Amino acid sequence: MTSVHPVFDVEAVRARYPALSDGRVWLDGAAGSQVPDVVIDAIAGVYRRGLGNQGAAFAVSARLGELVVAARAAVADLVGAPDPADVVFGPSMTALTYRFASTLARRWRPGDEIVVTELDHEANVSPWLQAAHRAGVVVRTAPLDRLSGTLPTQAVTGLMTARTRLVAVTAASNLLGSMPDIPAITGAARRAGALSFVDGVHHCPHAVVDVAGLGADLYLTSAYKWYGPHLAAAVARPGLLDGLEVDNLAGVPGDGPVRFELGTNPFPALAGVVAAVDHLAEPAGRGGTGPGAPPDRRARIVAARAAATAHERALGVALVDGLRSIDGVELLPGWDAARRTATATFLVRGSAPAQVAAALDRAGINVWHGNGYARSAARALGLLDTGGAVRASLNHYNRAEDVDRLLRALTAHAGAPDRDR
Ligand SMILES: Cc1ncc(COP(=O)(O)O)c(C=O)c1O
Repeated sequence: MTSVHPVFDVEAVRARYPALSDGRVWLDGAAGSQVPDVVIDAIAGVYRRGLGNQGAAFAVSARLGELVVAARAAVADLVGAPDPADVVFGPSMTALTYRFASTLARRWRPGDEIVVTELDHEANVSPWLQAAHRAGVVVRTAPLDRLSGTLPTQAVTGLMTARTRLVAVTAASNLLGSMPDIPAITGAARRAGALSFVDGVHHCPHAVVDVAGLGADLYLTSAYKWYGPHLAAAVARPGLLDGLEVDNLAGVPGDGPVRFELGTNPFPALAGVVAAVDHLAEPAGRGGTGPGAPPDRRARIVAARAAATAHERALGVALVDGLRSIDGVELLPGWDAARRTATATFLVRGSAPAQVAAALDRAGINVWHGNGYARSAARALGLLDTGGAVRASLNHYNRAEDVDRLLRALTAHAGAPDRDR
């Protein structure tokens, strides 16, 4: 059996990804996914057809300008944003978060408050802590529930006061996979008069994203987690960007998302973003739109992502069930969260996480080990100074054989005498 979801043809998807043909098991998409042929070709195509910059009289320049517009439209379609002009590009989610932290902090006054969480990646914590420190703003940290590996809504909303200016929260933990109730949190933030800054980096590749439904004032996503290039986007609630003051060069247009972008955009990467979104709109890797497919890309994305996430979810259940049945393997809390990605993080009795990852590498399996910069969660679980844990994360191109190979290799490792590990 290769595909665990009847309408999702995983072999057709896999055929599009050149890197997957090396025979290894790729279970580290949470750190960076592979890219399909169309993305590679789109990026190379920009270089092949010639480069310049926007604003010149010749044809290449006009084409690059159109590419920027097309890339904003693609990200807007991916996350369900009504207006592409609310999409800001940056080199990484981390860079964008620093950009918005310094921008939003201009409005903060000493004694104001912000809320961050223990479930978040450092990229949605450190920039806010540092900006708060400079502005004399009080930081409140919402604790994760150590037993369930989840972030209870009340843990965040209970910290909001009339002085709360910002709530920074992840839509999915890259360490534990659990997904907080974002609409409940952003709704409470809005009622408290605070902005919500939602880290969608681990969420976006594993969900049918609807930013309006999430209620995020700013939603952040990195294309290299959803089969695209190393480029990130911040998607703003309509109207938000216009009201923000931001540093940029004299002469940069006074309106639109370009105000928030620094220097020349990476045109080849933007072409890769368009190709990745078009790929995500395809029905299960078959290419093209297929007969009967909805005419607009957003509708096709919603249908295709629903099938892909169902495939991942079914595979994730098999992964977790298999891990639980191996003597000596202990899953971190979060594996049974009601809302979660197909990301399983675990320890192996008697082996350091780095040792387990090295043994899996020898068996031809790529996994992550450590804390994945989810430092507060690792600290809360007592793992920050002990090497973290091992993480196996599934993407739409993973299949049942990948899970089986991981489980077999782990069974052998967990059962081996110390000298053979
Ligand atoms: C949940 C989460 N947030 C933020 C980041 C940082 O993203 P970037 O590498 O685009 O700065 C990562 C990276 O792995 C992540 O997993």
